[in-house]
Amino acid sequence: PLVSMKEMLEDAKAKSYAVGQFNLNNLEYVQAILQAAEEEKSPVILGVSEGAGKYMGGFGVVVAMVKATMEAQGTTVPVAIHLDHGSSFEACAKAIHAGFTSVMIDASHGEFEDNVAVSSKVVELAHFHGVSVEAELGVVGGQEDDVIADGVIYADPKECQELVERTGIDCLAPALGSVHGPYKGEPNLGFKEMEEIGSAASVPLVLHGGTGIPTADIKRAISYGTSKINVNTENQIQQTKVVREVLDANPEMIDPRKYLGPGRDAIKATVIGKMREFGSSNQA
Ligand code: G3H
Ligand code: ZN
Repeated sequence: PLVSMKEMLEDAKAKSYAVGQFNLNNLEYVQAILQAAEEEKSPVILGVSEGAGKYMGGFGVVVAMVKATMEAQGTTVPVAIHLDHGSSFEACAKAIHAGFTSVMIDASHGEFEDNVAVSSKVVELAHFHGVSVEAELGVVGGQEDDVIADGVIYADPKECQELVERTGIDCLAPALGSVHGPYKGEPNLGFKEMEEIGSAASVPLVLHGGTGIPTADIKRAISYGTSKINVNTENQIQQTKVVREVLDANPEMIDPRKYLGPGRDAIKATVIGKMREFGSSNQA
């Protein structure tokens, strides 16, 4: 069923595993991720950035595509459709009205008080509709669609606790050195801060930039209260690698199903690997 992230993440926190957020780019992603979740008996979060939403034809198209695919595939595991890095109250409101079951309001780039104000406003509307809310503090490095960061700013533990208490958000993404896209070298996550935030803030934590983080770091993050891990680039890398191989080997090929199909299989295999690594398999 289509649900918010709230119960999913509370269960994950209580049982020390993490639910993966896998970002959508087109229909093949919806099919592959939902198939992986069903086979693994895993709860799953489908992430939709504003840019990807636009690419797929709008939030309404995304919701219709997900619902129809769940019905066609006979999906029984819990699924959330989540706005990734919502840039404004308006973007969150649009997603909620289109039928998203969860939203992220990313107001981490401005002043702290402005972040509190807009996150509170989103929580009020979202909770009225039974929709969960994620907010962010600090700055995740790298680039994802229109979200570009020059450097990395670590979240402040005191501000994290205050943001949670004053807004009523359901989960918090404290930026602690993670990066969107591949890492240059090994990631250097702020585990000291993560441990502090995890015990001070009562809500589950979210780790952005899940591509390229070593398994030991994933396990450690989960042990400090991280209950949601976002993955986008890894699926794109694996999908595109296979599509490129197929096209290189078959220069005459023009039927998109013949190369997008194998690309879809690569996404599914990647998602299954992450679900096992995050410990969400057999938790649905
Ligand atoms: O919000 C999406 C994620 O943080 C994705 O990060 O592309 O590095 O896996 P990634
Ligand atoms: Zn992110």
